[in-house]
Formats: sequence, structure tokens, C-alpha cells
Amino acid sequence: MNLANRMNRLGTETAFEVLAKAKKLEAEGKEIVHLEIGEPDFDTPKNIKKAAIEAIKNGYTHYTPSAGIPKAREAVSEYLNKTRPGINARPEDVVITVGGKPVMLYTILALVDEGDEVICPNPTYPIYESLVNFVGGKTVPIQIKEEKGFNFDVEDLEKLITPKTKLIVINSPANPTGGVIPEKDMEKIVKILEKHPQIYILSDEIYSEIIYSGKHISIATYPGMRQRTIVLDGLSKTYAMTGWRLGYGLCPSDLAPYITKLITNSVSCAPAFGQMALIESLTGPQNSVKKMLREFKKRRDAIVKGLNEIPGFSCQTPKGAFYVFPNITKTGYKSQELADMILYEAGVACLSGTCFGAYGEGYLRFSYANSLENINKAIEKIKSISNKWADKVK
Ligand SMILES: Cc1ncc(COP(=O)(O)O)c(C=O)c1O
Repeated sequence: MNLANRMNRLGTETAFEVLAKAKKLEAEGKEIVHLEIGEPDFDTPKNIKKAAIEAIKNGYTHYTPSAGIPKAREAVSEYLNKTRPGINARPEDVVITVGGKPVMLYTILALVDEGDEVICPNPTYPIYESLVNFVGGKTVPIQIKEEKGFNFDVEDLEKLITPKTKLIVINSPANPTGGVIPEKDMEKIVKILEKHPQIYILSDEIYSEIIYSGKHISIATYPGMRQRTIVLDGLSKTYAMTGWRLGYGLCPSDLAPYITKLITNSVSCAPAFGQMALIESLTGPQNSVKKMLREFKKRRDAIVKGLNEIPGFSCQTPKGAFYVFPNITKTGYKSQELADMILYEAGVACLSGTCFGAYGEGYLRFSYANSLENINKAIEKIKSISNKWADKVK
């Protein structure tokens, strides 16, 4: 096949490949506990489903403006102003997208030229690097360190900036580690970026509501940052709506028309009835979010405790998202080798830390978006094969 060169540079999300492997084992009759996929197992709240059904009945079944229905953009800007005081979100700067992910694509397409450098955390969500490579840019990894509570060293950021740096990606709370950038680090990041006004920031805040202590902080709320930051958020994680494909971006005012043009060129607009459901999600009762968070916290504590009981595993308690990232170096196995062994011999699907970048070596990622019962079962299953490495653990 005579593909365009850029296709050789496009990466993927390994979670979906592991899911396929696990499904194959299930089809062969093996019992598998799924801790690989990052999607809440809760149902979408009833009021949101009802709003979508009503919207279909009321004729919201046609194209909408590319950036979104004005009322939906208003709902997003009000929500952002409420949850991120000082952000100064205006409806005109909001774009409604088909999931949060397209905000990455549109931002990178709009800003990154061939040869431009993009500083990306590592390990991180793999799609940023995939897209930067796709457009001919270069990702510059900034190491996420366990000893920094799974954050990068702010001093490293200063060292990695060059005249070619066009964009920096930050993701807090983070996938795959659950790390949350502390306020004092955020202040230091802002101080550094103030010295480099040409650099844009893509702030992926998709886990903004899944935070267990303290409040989510957006870099866009700091003076001077809003007009150089693209905030990515959406409904997938907060309202258990991964399959609805509804997200949004808050853009610098001068960038919003270009992002809108990319929407016109790709999908035209997000589904009309979905946008009406988005209004209900953000402005309706929020008790389902609180309930989900309480449940996630119980699961987090159970999985952290369980993983720390496995010889050779050491697991920090993450501050956000629904992932744990245990250090497994003491088992003597490489991450991918251990992830495969855990899948094929224990029947637990998880991801190698290296699925998220080279600095993920030495770690596994488990998603705890699964029931307490399944989490406990997974721990027992892994313990049952831990004799394979227990004698190597010092
Ligand atoms: C860090 C991060 N950003 C964005 C996304 C994508 O969100 P959506 O499903 O809304 O496109 C994910 C999904 O796993 C994620 O982990």
C-alpha cells in the first residue's frame, strides 16, 4: 500500500491492544479481570440520559454551528468560571468537540509546524506524542518522577526549553500515574513560562473532577496564562460518558476561530442532542459525581493496600484520576514481561508502564475503574503467581 509518509509516524493507544488480547483469552474460556482500560464502569446519570432523549424528541437532530450550540458554549464557560475561579472563560472561546481527544489533535495541527518542539511529560498519555510526530514535530520528554509524587522536576523544564519550543503539554491529574501538580510547582512553571512568551500550553484537565484531596488548579487561571493556554476537558470521565464522545476546549481568543475551522473541516460539529445533554451534565445536579468519587476513593485505597502486599511491588497512593502506577523493579522483570505474565498466567489485564513512554519502565499501570470485588480478585490472582519472583526480591 502506498501510504502517506506521515502514517508511519502515527502511534496508538496500547490499552486497546491489551483489551483485544484479554478478550481473546476470554473467548478461549479464561477468566480475566480487566484493569487495563481507563473508563468509569458507572452508568451515565439518568438526568443526562433523559436530557439527550428529550433533545432528540425536540428536534436536536441536525447540524449545529461548528464550535457548538451557543447555550452549550455558555454552559461550559459558566462551569469553567465556577470550577476554576479567575479563568475568565468566555463562551466565544469555547469549542465543543467529539470527546476531549480532538482538542489535542486540533491544538497540535493549529500550532505545531515541522521541526517544532513540544515538551511532553513521560510517562504520559501516548496520543500527544503520536500526534506531534504525525505533524512532523518533535516531542521532548520531561521525566515524571516517582520521588516527586509523580510530577516532573520544574528545574528540568527550564533546561528543556529551546528557541524551537512551541508547546508544552501538562496533564493534572495525570494518566497514567494519578499525579497532581502541586500549587507551588504550578507557580514555578508559570514563572518559567513568563520568560518564554512564545510557548503555548496544552493543559489536559480531563480528570479535573477526579481528585481526592484539595482542589483542581488550572494553569489558565494564572495571570497571563489564559491567552496562551488551551484547556482540554470533557464529559467522558466526570460523568461516565466515554461512549457519548463529548468534550470541550477553552482556547486563547485568537486561536478559537482556527480550532473552529478545523472542526468544520473534520466533523462539522458535535452531535446536537449530545450538546443538549452536555448542558444538563454541567448545570444539573452533581451528586452522581460526588458518589462516583467516594467509590473511586475506596477502590484506590483497596488497590494500593493490595498491591503493596505483593512481594516486589511498591505503590504510592495517587492524588487523582483512577490509576495506580506501582514500581515493580524489585521483581527483577521488565514491565512488559511482567504485564504479559500477569495477563497470561494470573488472568489480570494491566498495562506496562512503557505504554506511556520510556520512563515508564519499572512500573505497571492498573486502572481501578472496576468493582471492589474485581480489584480484590485481581490482587489475589497476582499474589497467586508471585512465587515466580518473590525469591528474587531483596
Ligand atoms: C489524559 C487523557 N486525556 C484525554 C483522554 C481522552 O478523553 P476522551 O475520551 O474524552 O476523548 C484520556 C482518555 O483516557 C486521557 O487519559
